[in-house]
Amino acid sequence: MMMLRKVAVLAAVLVGVLSILFLANVHTDLPQTLDDIFGVKELDWARRLYTDIFGEASAQFVSLMYILSVGAIALASGVYLAMQGRIDRLEDELQQGRAQATREVRHEQTAIKAQALKKIYKMGDVEVPALRGLDLEIRPGEYVAIFGPSGSGKSTLLNLMGALDRPTEGTVFIDGVDISTLDDSQLAEIRRRKVGFVFQFFALMPRMTALQNVELSLTISEVDGSERRKRAKELLGMVGLRDRARHRPSELSGGEQQRVAIARALANDPTFVLLDEPTGNLDQETGRGIADLLNMLNEEQGKTFVVVTHDPMMAEEADRILQMADGQIVKEVTKAEGL
Ligand SMILES: Nc1ncnc2c1ncn2[C@@H]1O[C@H](COP(=O)(O)OP(=O)(O)OP(=O)(O)O)[C@@H](O)[C@H]1O
Ligand SMILES: [Mg+2]
Repeated sequence: MMMLRKVAVLAAVLVGVLSILFLANVHTDLPQTLDDIFGVKELDWARRLYTDIFGEASAQFVSLMYILSVGAIALASGVYLAMQGRIDRLEDELQQGRAQATREVRHEQTAIKAQALKKIYKMGDVEVPALRGLDLEIRPGEYVAIFGPSGSGKSTLLNLMGALDRPTEGTVFIDGVDISTLDDSQLAEIRRRKVGFVFQFFALMPRMTALQNVELSLTISEVDGSERRKRAKELLGMVGLRDRARHRPSELSGGEQQRVAIARALANDPTFVLLDEPTGNLDQETGRGIADLLNMLNEEQGKTFVVVTHDPMMAEEADRILQMADGQIVKEVTKAEGL
């Protein structure tokens, strides 16, 4: 369409210019001038042809043709510019509309949604109900803490939200996708691309350096060599460990190891990060540092966190606290209501 318009305008301009040249050649004075300037003697054939057909043109006729030709060019250019302007504006509007729509969808879409979630572990003949019909929504950019006594089902819930396990009943949506419809390799792909995990005991590779540990999750997602190293360094910088890149886990403090684990969890820019008692193995002071880090990443970079914790200090930072008991969410408090 764009192409066609350009060709049409070009053709109109060309016809205009050619007719000016042609008529100029018929006119008795102008050819002389054109001759002087451009040396366009070749157009003499045109004059002869023209006079053969029409006889000598009158000065008025030639002037009229000039005016018409110039008019045609002006009109073509004008129409072109007007159309172009209108089309640009329409394209802008379309673009804005699309961006708006994307924002709205993103806003409405939940990072995680769980519906009527049940999980029953089977131990031989014994059934252990860990979740008993649980509903939950986590929006992008939220920081949610899950509180509850031991055995209330917190880790079970995290495993289901992170597609590490399948529910006995109910549905989990990750980024709007019902994950029960996916096969195991698709689930693995979702975990890799959309979920970051942080565990109580860090789960770092003991023989690898901090940098290699972070790089490892980028290897899995097929980011190539130099880009991977650069990104891993950035991530370590983000958690305040730029100068510990070459340390192995045994050469790092507990808090530092957990920072590496957080950097690793964020490596593939996941939709959300699930943390299961990330400060459970740290002293209070170090735990504070991790809580501050999560808070900063949430507030400044909009990272989405769901953190299971026993630590009231950690929960204080959250936008929402979900209280669990006996496989259900029994209470929900938001920051706005005062935690
Ligand atoms: N793999 C499993 N097989 C059998 N039962 C399990 C399994 N995992 C958990 N359970 C049981 O399910 C219930 C919930 O366990 P879960 O680990 O989710 O609790 P939790 O809230 O994380 O506890 P904690 O605070 O101690 O980590 C418990 O009764 C537990 O014994
Ligand atoms: Mg647990």
